[in-house]
Amino acid sequence: MRLWLRGLVLQALRSTRGVCGPRGQPPPLPVPQKIVATWEAINLGRQPVPEYFNFARDVLDVWTQLEKAGHRPPNPAFWWVDGLGAEVKWSFEELGVQSRKAANVLGGVCGLQPGDRMMLVLPRLPEWWLVSVACMRTGAVMIPGVSQLTEKDLKYRLQASRAKSIITSDSLAPRIDAISTDCPSLQTKLLVSDSSRPGWMNFRELFREASTEHDCVRTKAQDPLAIYFTSGTTGAPKMVEHSQASYGLGFVASGRQWVALTESDIFWNTTDTAWVKAAWTLFSAWPNGSCIFVHELPRVDAKVILKTLSRLPITTLCCVPTLFRLLVQEDLTRYQFQSLRHCLTGGEALNPDVREKWKSQTGLELHEGYGQSETVVICANPKGTKIKSGSMGKASPPYDVQIVDDEGNILPPGAEGNVAVRVRPARPFCFFNCYLDNPEKTAASEQGDFYITGDRARMDKDGYFWFMGRNDDVINSASYRIGPVEVESALAEHPAVLESAVVSSPDPIRGEVVKAFIVLSPAYSSHDPEELTRELQEHVKRVTAPYKYPRKVAFVSELPKTVSGKIQRSKLRSQEWKK
Ligand SMILES: *[C@@H]1O[C@H](CO)[C@@H](O)[C@H](O)[C@H]1NC(C)=O
Ligand SMILES: *[C@@H]1O[C@H](CO)[C@@H](O)[C@H](O)[C@H]1NC(C)=O
Repeated sequence: MRLWLRGLVLQALRSTRGVCGPRGQPPPLPVPQKIVATWEAINLGRQPVPEYFNFARDVLDVWTQLEKAGHRPPNPAFWWVDGLGAEVKWSFEELGVQSRKAANVLGGVCGLQPGDRMMLVLPRLPEWWLVSVACMRTGAVMIPGVSQLTEKDLKYRLQASRAKSIITSDSLAPRIDAISTDCPSLQTKLLVSDSSRPGWMNFRELFREASTEHDCVRTKAQDPLAIYFTSGTTGAPKMVEHSQASYGLGFVASGRQWVALTESDIFWNTTDTAWVKAAWTLFSAWPNGSCIFVHELPRVDAKVILKTLSRLPITTLCCVPTLFRLLVQEDLTRYQFQSLRHCLTGGEALNPDVREKWKSQTGLELHEGYGQSETVVICANPKGTKIKSGSMGKASPPYDVQIVDDEGNILPPGAEGNVAVRVRPARPFCFFNCYLDNPEKTAASEQGDFYITGDRARMDKDGYFWFMGRNDDVINSASYRIGPVEVESALAEHPAVLESAVVSSPDPIRGEVVKAFIVLSPAYSSHDPEELTRELQEHVKRVTAPYKYPRKVAFVSELPKTVSGKIQRSKLRSQEWKK
């Protein structure tokens, strides 16, 4: 891989020198397109996945060389604003310099070696992107996390992943201090802050002093790149391990027609860095030389988003459906977007009426994509193709997506079944490596020749997929995946709760919300229900991450159960959704 890239870059340098004189303007080079085409050939299986692959080395550093050879994309590679006037703009070359400094912090004082794991929990600060790239340069495995995690969640994640280091900001540091002694693998704590804190190293100080020289490690395409925690129906969140190639090359593959970015595009993905799939943005934009735009956005504010789109030349926007639901509640005709031309959404089902409202008021189509932490994009509505409102689009190459029965047999068009991705005879390279330390779960996710997503859908005769629901009990509230057991376990810690069942319930803004059906213990049965509801909500916020608290609570005398005594969440759920 390195060799042919080197070859292409050398060719670029030669052609720059050959075609124009020392003072002449270099003509646009065909080289980036050639490089992208080679990546695409790998993605489509026309060329084998290289043995070695590293996104920083094979993508970002190649762009640096192209810039040096005179081929500069019109926008910076990275553009960050805080909405109050502060701004950061980096070309690929500057991004290279900054991320090498960050890599020297990780590999130097932090002592991170290839394969060591680092938890990365930061708000939308430029450091998030630097540290992600620095992890690639040092071969450290990044574990992104949400900043609302409680002490208990953090302890579980640090213990399960045996992370050696954590980098975070002031708000989370006290919670880490409270549990550090229970996490023996955690050796270094890095703080992104302008002040110091005992027991922590100050990233910004170390960064200022760090050298700009760093040799990017050589990683094999299959070496781990990232670990994501994902909530399931039962038990604690599972660890999904991705390889250097699965995201780094995978997105160019399955996301390419959906995202459709070019060198002149400025891509704004409003989704939080805390999200498990935050790294997607970087893998979708940078291979094509596009600009990643980031607004610090301390909280979700529809007006700020609309004003930013009117003020700045953003061309491509990706928001979760929840956010589009908020945006269409504004009077969109009052805004004139400067350059917006392509809009993407994903993470949960998009309601057709939101798409129609957005389109009628802005003239822009909303392109929905569908994927999981385990995969990249599986289905999508690519730019320029016919959209069937309410459908999540067609299978995204190189994936072979089918609707199968519980034994893994392909079902005919129109039949409802499991959304499944073919993993035999060959596992797609953009797929996750495994559920870490959990071979049973990895094996259980496959049936016959397919990986079973856990979602149910049907495919029409034109190949469009129509989402029907999940066959597990995971709740997807405003695109946050919430396992019912995590909420039930939190409730169970309160003396008022005898037993509970937690399911999803429809909600006009968030799509669905957490609803808890609770059987009270006798001592509490005569308490004021409203007061108790508030108390239990506060309790859940305290015990587990606040976004998981039940927005709806119902007190019931008993829960539906199977003969063997298992609570039937599915009954409660269908009751909720029938109303
Ligand atoms: C990258 O560019 C190629 C060629 O111009 C295009 O086909 C593809 O859609 C782009 N990829 C992404 C991820 O936007
Ligand atoms: C935007 O970010 C979210 C989460 O961070 C991710 O799931 C999504 O795929 C990203 N979109 C694109 C087009 O990269």
